[in-house]
Amino acid sequence: MGKMTLDEKIGQLNLVVMGNAITGTVISKGVEDKMKRGEIGGIFGLYGTANVSKMQDLAVKQSRLHIPLIFGLDVIHGHRTIFPIPLGVSATWDMGLIQQSAKIAAKEATAEGLNWVFSPMVDIARDPRWGRISEGSGEDPWYGSKVAKAMVKGYQGNNLMDADAVMACVKHFALYGGAEAGREYNTVDMSLIKMYQDYLPPYKAAVDAGAGSFMSSFNTINGMPATVNKWLLTDLLRKQWGFKGFVVSDYTALNEVTNHGLGDLQTVSALALKAGLDMDMVGEGFLTTLKKSLKEGKVTPQEIDLACRRVLEAKYKLGLFKNPAKSINAEKEKQDVFTDDNRKFARQIAEHSFVLLKNQGETLPLKKSGTIALVGPLADNHSEMLGTWVIAGDPNKSVSVAEGIKNVVGENVKVLYAKGANITDDSLLSIRAFALTGPEVKDKRTPQEMIDEAVETAKKADVVVAVVGESANMSGESSSRADIDIPESQKELLKALSKTGKPLVIVLFNGRPLTLTWEDKHASAILDAWAPGTEAGNAIADVLFGNYNPAGKLTATFPRSVGQIPIYYSHKNTGRPFDGTGGAKFKSDYLDISNDPLYPFGYGLSYTTFSYSGVQLDKTNPAGNTTVKATVTVTNTGKYAGEEVVQLYISDPVASISRSVKELKGFQKISLQPGESKVVSFNITTADLKFYNDKLIYDWEPGQFVVQIGTNSANVQSAAVQWLK
Ligand code: IFM
Repeated sequence: MGKMTLDEKIGQLNLVVMGNAITGTVISKGVEDKMKRGEIGGIFGLYGTANVSKMQDLAVKQSRLHIPLIFGLDVIHGHRTIFPIPLGVSATWDMGLIQQSAKIAAKEATAEGLNWVFSPMVDIARDPRWGRISEGSGEDPWYGSKVAKAMVKGYQGNNLMDADAVMACVKHFALYGGAEAGREYNTVDMSLIKMYQDYLPPYKAAVDAGAGSFMSSFNTINGMPATVNKWLLTDLLRKQWGFKGFVVSDYTALNEVTNHGLGDLQTVSALALKAGLDMDMVGEGFLTTLKKSLKEGKVTPQEIDLACRRVLEAKYKLGLFKNPAKSINAEKEKQDVFTDDNRKFARQIAEHSFVLLKNQGETLPLKKSGTIALVGPLADNHSEMLGTWVIAGDPNKSVSVAEGIKNVVGENVKVLYAKGANITDDSLLSIRAFALTGPEVKDKRTPQEMIDEAVETAKKADVVVAVVGESANMSGESSSRADIDIPESQKELLKALSKTGKPLVIVLFNGRPLTLTWEDKHASAILDAWAPGTEAGNAIADVLFGNYNPAGKLTATFPRSVGQIPIYYSHKNTGRPFDGTGGAKFKSDYLDISNDPLYPFGYGLSYTTFSYSGVQLDKTNPAGNTTVKATVTVTNTGKYAGEEVVQLYISDPVASISRSVKELKGFQKISLQPGESKVVSFNITTADLKFYNDKLIYDWEPGQFVVQIGTNSANVQSAAVQWLK
């Protein structure tokens, strides 16, 4: 750094975009010239060894100090081989699989010249209208923290210097998932207790796991935009949590602080630097104003040095100074991408991510004989299953449901296909949801003609499999929806199909919890497949025909109606809790709908059934730092081998502040043969009883706790414990 000019130092704080990762109105210009002048610290959006090597060569050979660039990309659920969207991945409740998915993504990304991924997204989300709920692991901070850790470990491995390791960028710091009304980029305003208890833990878990970088969020926190929020970026992140890496802004988030009303670009850039922002994504606020601010005494040389040092340190940690071409290896690019093993893994993790929402009369698994009517606009489609944020995903390599069924059951099953509907005929939704990919190719027939054909097809079959739901970009960034039903065109199709009286199996593609009240009433079975990724069709067929027994569990509550949102299992009791009896006035309820969700957090069926014994505690009056062992016996009472996620919740009915009705504190995923029983135990300590009190002190309080173990958050066995000081 001693050799660097002021301009070169400021240059390191500048991140530019190239390629097709543009998510704002500003794009980077004159990149090559800026690079030669040392005005760029990193590039994102570019991948492929040829592309990356060209730019790295320019930086290393033609800039004065030969400082290598860092290359980033949104690799959020696989790079080339696409895995399910993160909300789907989280439904596996399998940290081994989750970590492995990040590890494979890192290997593919490094094979294409990358060293930095904008993932994991660890924002807690309790509003499914918000499109980005698809990118995280749902509503629960305890569970979200486990996933955050697994992802960071998977990406970064044991040593960032390793050829297959990428630096994680934890986003979006912070509380982005709390956007009012679920509307993208909207205001966030919440109490400190809620923030600490429910929203911050996954970010902290990512710091503890050694994440190398963070991304600031677009929203405000306590009125102060995150990107210029000193409390957030310095006091909390660095001083309280001990984060040692660097912080990059979101796409032009620094410039947008002017829209939040904090002043012009020079003012907000100075604020951001002082707050602890180190790198400015795309907007060039730092590049164009910091020198002036230094002259005017608005920032100090030390503040610029500190940010520059943090960016350079990241490059050191990644080994880029030693070898700027570390991830530029054409051989590795050929070998490590889209391998058979990666595809096999994609199929496995997709199968594990599916959640069986309904299975009346054992409609599933399907027989490997007879005739199936395969209908719906997503049944013979190769792109929508890839889901949101798949910059390098290739639809030509993905397996449609129609193909998957053929691969799995061959000619044993006769498949009759009818599209039945367009994904959507709603003009506003069409324009917005397909803005990134180009318009949906609409069928030339009228909606009624398409439905008629599907109904005729259904009549000839033993069972109808309708593959319906959201397109890839109906969720993700800038994809909030006020109505979270299956789009109208497809709903009409489902209604017509249900009238045929044939068993109706819905295979659902969705980037968020949807309102499925009609579907739950009328379909025979519903398999939630999220956006399953490259191996969608094979994985879906495996599950439909019973080669794999689904075991996924929801990590976000499914409401009955949009009016219930925000809805999450760990809500407060209120002073007038509704006791479920109905008819009574002056309770915390709705006149027109139950308080209960359609499908609660942790919910998911299996082709088999499980029974739970009561909860046994080895102590009921423990004191201080004792360990209490809570045990249940789980039995497979059905006829298939299956896996079950046994969940532990704890509630704290009397405390110094009002607590959530219950909180997840553990889970175990077990496998059981038909008739087999397993004893499942959880060790509970006072660490599991801690919470943030009204002074924001994280501690436990003696008293009564209720230990609850069960198959989902709403179906548990309980036992009380009196925990003494
Ligand atoms: O990483 C993303 C972020 O999640 C949303 N805005 C754009 C960034 C870079 O692509």
